[in-house]
Amino acid sequence: MAGSTFKDKVVVITGASSGIGRELACQLAGQGAWLSLAARDVERLAKVRAESQTRGGRAIPVQTDVSQQSQCESLIQETVKKYERIDVLVNNAGITMWAKFEDLQDLGLVEQIMRINFFGSVYCTHYALPYLKQTKGQIVAVSSLTGKTGIPTRSAYAASKHAMAGFFDSLRIEIAEYGVDVTTIYPDFVSSEVRERALGPDGLPLGTSPVREKEVMSTETCAEMIIQAMEQRKRELIMSFRGRIGQWLKLIAPRVVDRIALRAINQGR
Ligand SMILES: NC(=O)c1ccc[n+]([C@@H]2O[C@H](COP(=O)([O-])OP(=O)(O)OC[C@H]3O[C@@H](n4cnc5c(N)ncnc54)[C@H](OP(=O)(O)O)[C@@H]3O)[C@@H](O)[C@H]2O)c1
Repeated sequence: MAGSTFKDKVVVITGASSGIGRELACQLAGQGAWLSLAARDVERLAKVRAESQTRGGRAIPVQTDVSQQSQCESLIQETVKKYERIDVLVNNAGITMWAKFEDLQDLGLVEQIMRINFFGSVYCTHYALPYLKQTKGQIVAVSSLTGKTGIPTRSAYAASKHAMAGFFDSLRIEIAEYGVDVTTIYPDFVSSEVRERALGPDGLPLGTSPVREKEVMSTETCAEMIIQAMEQRKRELIMSFRGRIGQWLKLIAPRVVDRIALRAINQGR
């Protein structure tokens, strides 16, 4: 049964049109949350809005490209105009890659990933922070296990997620005095469109997923775990056993962690 921690709470979710963000929106709506749904695809956002309303939440779609600072500012302004406050910001929008660094044809790919995954989170956080201070609210940063350790074919993605970890770990300490918590999420593989959309060596989406999507965590389970961590205002959540054990292994046998990472990519799970 859905809890009620987020009933009437104003939650901004970036990347709400698909995958983990979409499912988070639907489950939070089931608790009666008031959602601000951000992504570029307005048709998909409209569907998530309708689903959120059916489940008992309120929702507005705000077309946003998080790589554009001014659009992140508008997202926060539109949210406050509608709901008059913000309780939670979920920085979830992201894209990935599937290519060796040496094979990249254009370094624009690296910039694009950094702009969306890292700068998008920084921009949204900057504009939301004054409102989060007023509500003693919460920031959620959806990173990745790739934000904890390097993964082959993911160099720029790993850089963006490590950058998020450094940024949000620092911010957590700075804003603790205001009662604003930072919860960083480190998912393992989750079944979504992220790998179909992953940028290949030519900078274009792969179109098909190299991962065995049916064998990895569902977005439903992922969203349930994230919401539980949000309810507990946890510092961080590492979502898989291999991810948690990898933290310890990395201290004593980092090459073993490298081998696990290589095998995960080769086996697609
Ligand atoms: N799935 C996994 O295995 C996995 C593992 C670890 C971490 N993660 C992280 O989880 C987050 C969500 O990924 P997902 O798996 O749910 O992927 P997804 O299904 O591809 O969803 C990605 C979302 O990000 C949005 N987005 C992409 N570029 C954007 C931009 N420039 N501005 C605004 N929104 C943008 C997309 O919406 P539009 O295209 O409509 O803009 C979409 O709603 C990402 O940060 C990803 O790195 C995923």
